[in-house]
Parts: sequence; structure tokens; C-alpha cells
Amino acid sequence: SRTVTRDAQGALTVGGIEVARLAEEFGTPAYFMDEADFRARCRAWREAFGTEADVFYAGKAFLSRAVVKWLYEEGLNLDVCSGGELATALSAGMPAERIAFHGNNKSEAEIERAVEAGVGRIVLDSFQEIVRVAHIAQRLGKVQPVLIRVTVGVEAHTHEFIATAHEDQKFGIALAGGQAAEAVRRALKLDGLELLGIHSHIGSQIFDMAGFEVSARRVVQLLAAIRDEHGVELPEIDLGGGLGIAYTSEDDPREPHEIAKALSEIVTRECESARLRSPRISVEPGRAIVGPTAFTLYRVGTVKHLEGLRTYVSVDGGMSDNIRTALYDAEYSVALVSRSSTAEPMLSRVVGKHCESGDIVVKDAFLPADLAPGDLIAVPATGAYCRSMASNYNHALRPPVVAVNDGEARVIIRRETEEDLLALDVG
Ligand code: LLP
Repeated sequence: SRTVTRDAQGALTVGGIEVARLAEEFGTPAYFMDEADFRARCRAWREAFGTEADVFYAGKAFLSRAVVKWLYEEGLNLDVCSGGELATALSAGMPAERIAFHGNNKSEAEIERAVEAGVGRIVLDSFQEIVRVAHIAQRLGKVQPVLIRVTVGVEAHTHEFIATAHEDQKFGIALAGGQAAEAVRRALKLDGLELLGIHSHIGSQIFDMAGFEVSARRVVQLLAAIRDEHGVELPEIDLGGGLGIAYTSEDDPREPHEIAKALSEIVTRECESARLRSPRISVEPGRAIVGPTAFTLYRVGTVKHLEGLRTYVSVDGGMSDNIRTALYDAEYSVALVSRSSTAEPMLSRVVGKHCESGDIVVKDAFLPADLAPGDLIAVPATGAYCRSMASNYNHALRPPVVAVNDGEARVIIRRETEEDLLALDVG
């Protein structure tokens, strides 16, 4: 994050506020999000893609009403993938035409709500859904703009659970075997739909541009095939999200302008060779915008030195506020932030307070040997897929998200309370 510094005593300051003060005021664990950094990243994406392309922030990474307002103000669009995300977006005033609605099994109620609201795009994910959306739109007397999501058959080099464009998985309609061409044929025939283009998302936390390039090429080739068969040139392609960020110093992420340049070059070249008009490009970054903008602040509760193995540092959160380490073997770094220490670094594992041994936040990290209960430690780059995937496991109370900007901190999602938990328990 860009406005995080350390003072002379080694205490971390974020947006001009000391972490000890943040911990006192907001408690731990808590996520602290740097609003200026979030906005700067939105602008970097917009500027990289210019006016010829649209940037849809992927709300699944993290969504709140404050975030929706920032996106709106910075000129970004929003990708939602559930009724809940759609409700959040609409309630915070995002114009419906700037929203795209995703998902491989949207319910009838969700589709109805989206069509009624007038969302700018619905991304169709199956043959059933093509018909379902067309019927609902017709019943509501509307013509719904749609994209068809295709799987281009790319093996993205990322964790199996977050790769999405190889053939053996649940998303999209395969280019292979003429499936996608058949989907286009059906969608073009239906009165309730206005087919605007083709969508492809190849996976997440990707560093290598090759997968995006293959995907862009195959999508443009499909547009050419559609032109040849139907005589229509679809005006849009959406190449999804997936750009990786640095979780540790070993990660070397690509910048928005690099991906913008690579994608527009490929699309331009492929269109020239197919004599196609260049379509408008959309992208859907989630992690790359919000991931680096937040850190999680924990308080150390216990420290166990296991002779010859490592030190186990237990914090007041765990897999309920960051499931990524347990689920994807994700790597994070961690630092002591409430003071400086000259003690020797010890191989440590930061673990949570949940009732299982896989409850690991940071698998391997060096923390000072004098780390003690009461110290504050921070795990950076937790803005994406941490609060949004948080759970109430062991009836944990989900932590708040605090936006810090210009020396001021304000809660944008409050900490859950026992009353919140008990309110749902109506038995
Ligand atoms: N567009 C679509 C259609 C998507 O499915 C996704 C992510 C995105 C855009 C945004 O991808 P991003 O730019 O954030 O990589 N929970 C996993 C990540 C799951 C991603 C799901 N789809 C994790 O924590 O790594």
C-alpha cells in the first residue's frame, strides 16, 4: 500500500495514523484499507485502457457501498456475480447500465432483478441460461444486452481451484466442438436478447501474459467466424480479470498498462488479419485493484517455541478472516508493526484461533524472537478475497473494514457482534 510508513520507533503508520491507535480505536483483527491507494489503482486501470475500453471492477474480490462510490467516482464499471452483490451495487447508486452480471447458475429471481434494474450486461454461461434470460426479458417487455462466456481452452498457470478456461470445469461454453458457435446461433435468434459480444476469463493470480494473449486471439477468431456465418460483427469482447499481485517479494506482477498494451496489440493484429472492425474491449480486474490496498491487523495472543521446528504465533483471527492460505496454499508475508525489534529472526508460523491445525494465516515467516503477547502484527495484501470470503466458523465474528484516508479512519463495514450472530438463530 502506498501510504504506509514506519516512524523512528518502528511503529507502522498508515494514511498518517499509527497502527497502535487504529488497534485501540477499532480493535483487532481488522482490515485497514487505504482509500487513496484504491482510487489510484482505479485511475491507473482507466488510464491504461483509455476511452476505447471499459474497466469493470470484479466485486467478488471485495465489495461494500463505500467501494461502489469510489468506483463510480473514478469512472469504473462493476462486475457482480450474485443478487447480494447486485443489491449492494444498486443501493450505493451505481447506475445499472454500468453493471455486468455474471455467474454460472443465476437464479430466476436474480435474473429478473437484474433485467428489471436494467443492468448493462448479463454474461450468459450455459445453453439453459440463454433461454432463461431471453424469456424473462420478454416477459418484462425488455431486450437485455448480453455477452456469451466461452472457455477458450487455455491452461492458466495458477492454482487449480482458480483456473477457469481449461475444458474440464464448470464455467462458460466451450469453443471446442462448435459449442460456442451454437450458443451464438441460438442467442441471435431470440427476441429478448441483444448479443453484444463474447466474454472470456481464464483464471486468477496470473503473471504470465501468454494465457491472456491466446484467449484474446481465440475470442477474436470467434468474432470472425460469427461475421462469416451471420453477417454480423459483434461490437464487444470482455477478456475477464485475473492479473496477479505481489503477496511476497518473490511475486513479480504485471502493471495495468502492460496488460492493456498486450491485449490491444493482439486484438488489433487479429482483427486486421480477419478484416474485422476492432471490438470495444472490457476487462474485469478485482484482485489487482483491491488486493494491495488493505492489510489485516492482528494481536498476538500466544507464542510457542517448538524446539528444532519453528515458532507458532497465535493471533486473534485466522482462517475465518483469511481462508486463502488453507484453501489455495496462498503465501503471505507478515511484520511486527507496533514496535521495532533487534531480536534475532525466528522461523515462525502465524496461526489463528480456530479448532483445526490447517488454520494457518502465514505458513513460513521470520518474526523477531522477542515477539510477545500483545504485539501487533500486520499481514499485507489482504484486500482481495479475504473479507469477501470470511466466515463465521466457530462462531467467529467477522472483522470490520476500516478505510483510512488523509489521517482519518472510518469504518465502512462494522465488526460483527454476538447479537448479529444470534439474530439469525431463530430456533
Ligand atoms: N471476472 C470473472 C468472470 C471472474 O470469475 C473473476 C474472478 C474476475 C473477473 C476477477 O478476477 P481477479 O482479477 O480478481 O483475479 N477466491 C480466489 C479467486 C477467485 C476468482 C474468481 N473469479 C482467490 O482468493 O484467489
